[in-house]
Amino acid sequence: MQLNDKVIVITGGGRGLGRAMALELADKGAKLALVDLDQEGLSETAGLCAEKGVEARTYECNVSVEGDVEKLFNDVVADFGTVNGLVNNAGITRDGLFLKVDRETGKVTKKMTLDQWQLVMDVNLTGTFLCGREAAAKMIDLGVEGCIINISSISRNGNMGQTNYTATKAGVQAMAVTWAKELSRYGIRAASIAPGYIGTEMVMSMKPEALDKIAAGIPAKRLGKPEEIASTVTFIMENDYINGRCIEVDGALRI
Ligand SMILES: NC(=O)c1ccc[n+]([C@@H]2O[C@H](COP(=O)([O-])OP(=O)(O)OC[C@H]3O[C@@H](n4cnc5c(N)ncnc54)[C@H](O)[C@@H]3O)[C@@H](O)[C@H]2O)c1
Repeated sequence: MQLNDKVIVITGGGRGLGRAMALELADKGAKLALVDLDQEGLSETAGLCAEKGVEARTYECNVSVEGDVEKLFNDVVADFGTVNGLVNNAGITRDGLFLKVDRETGKVTKKMTLDQWQLVMDVNLTGTFLCGREAAAKMIDLGVEGCIINISSISRNGNMGQTNYTATKAGVQAMAVTWAKELSRYGIRAASIAPGYIGTEMVMSMKPEALDKIAAGIPAKRLGKPEEIASTVTFIMENDYINGRCIEVDGALRI
């Protein structure tokens, strides 16, 4: 898919990877529909895209609320006339051990709470489901070809302290495979990207000691750059034979 003048929706476009994706797609001449809860961040991203000479509109929306997501895609189509792409990028973590056990007594002292579980499910998994569904429905009704990318994670195979997050990131990868199987006949591709540790706000908010330890354990000996994920998004969007697969961008780290 040539990206010039195409309308691409990016969730979580207010900062981090979403902003880097917006800037990369703007360089390709795409029109951006930027979605986030954070209006200030959205405006900043939109301003940076506008400086590159493309149309960028902002949509304050919680991706986990069905009615809000339905309205979002109606608004995007009303504003731009179409929708050609979606990056399901909005995501959160609420890390914690599944069960915490006191070393001396051997007894369970803490459990991952249902709130911790449900919040991450709502944003990462339900949000991706809802946005993917509404984007694909619009593409089919409008008769346009399109591409949907779900942002998974290196954590999708299981990672300490991330029962909730890993379940969602395995889920969004699997959904991309399912959508490729179901939607290819309508000219819609779906794929996923599994980033390793990338230096965004989400990761940089970790303790410096923890960050140093992570970087030392990566064969590439550094964190990834947001632009390295953003260029993978444009690569998938532009290559019409990438479909149903997950591209790993992790500096060779295995966790
Ligand atoms: N940074 C990394 O190292 C890394 C690694 C693997 C995967 N990822 C994934 O990449 C994606 C982006 O990560 P990031 O580091 O840029 O995160 P980030 O926290 O910097 O940005 C996430 C954005 O999503 C928005 N958001 C959160 N909940 C939302 C909701 N309910 N509705 C709409 N917007 C919402 C936030 O406001 C924020 O602007 C996430 O899905 C994350 O899990 C990141």
